[in-house]
Amino acid sequence: MSEQQMAEDPGGPSDDPGDAGDSPGMAIVARGLTKRYERGPASVTALDGIELDIGSGEAVALVGPSGSGKSTLLHLIAAMDRPSAGSLIVGGTEVSSLGAAAAARFRRRVGFVFQAFHLLDSLSAIDNVLVPLLPARQARARGGLAMSLIERVGLAERARHLPAELSGGEQQRVAIARALVNEPRLLLADEPTGNLDSATGAAIVELLLEVRRDSGATLVVATHDERVAASLDRRVRLSDGRIAG
Ligand SMILES: Nc1ncnc2c1ncn2[C@@H]1O[C@H](COP(=O)(O)OP(=O)(O)O)[C@@H](O)[C@H]1O
Ligand SMILES: [Mg+2]
Repeated sequence: MSEQQMAEDPGGPSDDPGDAGDSPGMAIVARGLTKRYERGPASVTALDGIELDIGSGEAVALVGPSGSGKSTLLHLIAAMDRPSAGSLIVGGTEVSSLGAAAAARFRRRVGFVFQAFHLLDSLSAIDNVLVPLLPARQARARGGLAMSLIERVGLAERARHLPAELSGGEQQRVAIARALVNEPRLLLADEPTGNLDSATGAAIVELLLEVRRDSGATLVVATHDERVAASLDRRVRLSDGRIAG
């Protein structure tokens, strides 16, 4: 099948993955997925013809050395960046063909957790959780949903603290609560334990797995840490932008 044919055959209900009733996590299907970064005259092939199937509700570890393409793949799955070639269907949506507005809507349906937490320094924990919501929903969510998420991640006593007043593990818990505020059916985490000691990191992974158990969301975690990888259902190994097993 050509790339063009695949792009025209999204393999499921198309544009809005958020309205698929009570079906659980988003499934991910990549075919010939390729990403090249142009660097002046040079070009770096970060992903080179990825073939990948991740089932609804699976918890998958994305492993591989630094530079193997883990972050690039997560960014494509989240529609934060666009592939150079190939097909990528996430929750029934061909994300490679989304326009800017549709990509922005799609991104709100995906929870993303970063290694460096990426909290806003001047906002309290609870206000950081509200950031991904549209302004119209923020006021309504402030007391209820955001607080329940802060409680969910074990930070009820810290809701009004600034990031600088929280430990690394606590900041990552805030980042997880923020990632959950739009009730995502797909949770992506890029080296979420990379800045944490191993006990704190293990607790963060346990929290991600609990969230996945409770919500049925699909979970994909890029990690260097073998113990983190071992706690998920399955490993997908990248090497030089290709699936290595
Ligand atoms: N924005 C970018 N511009 C140019 N090259 C990039 C960019 N992001 C990543 N790369 C390159 O793509 C390759 C894969 O990087 P990345 O996806 O970050 O790997 P990993 O997360 O596994 O460390 C590397 O060679 C990296 O240097
Ligand atoms: Mg990376």
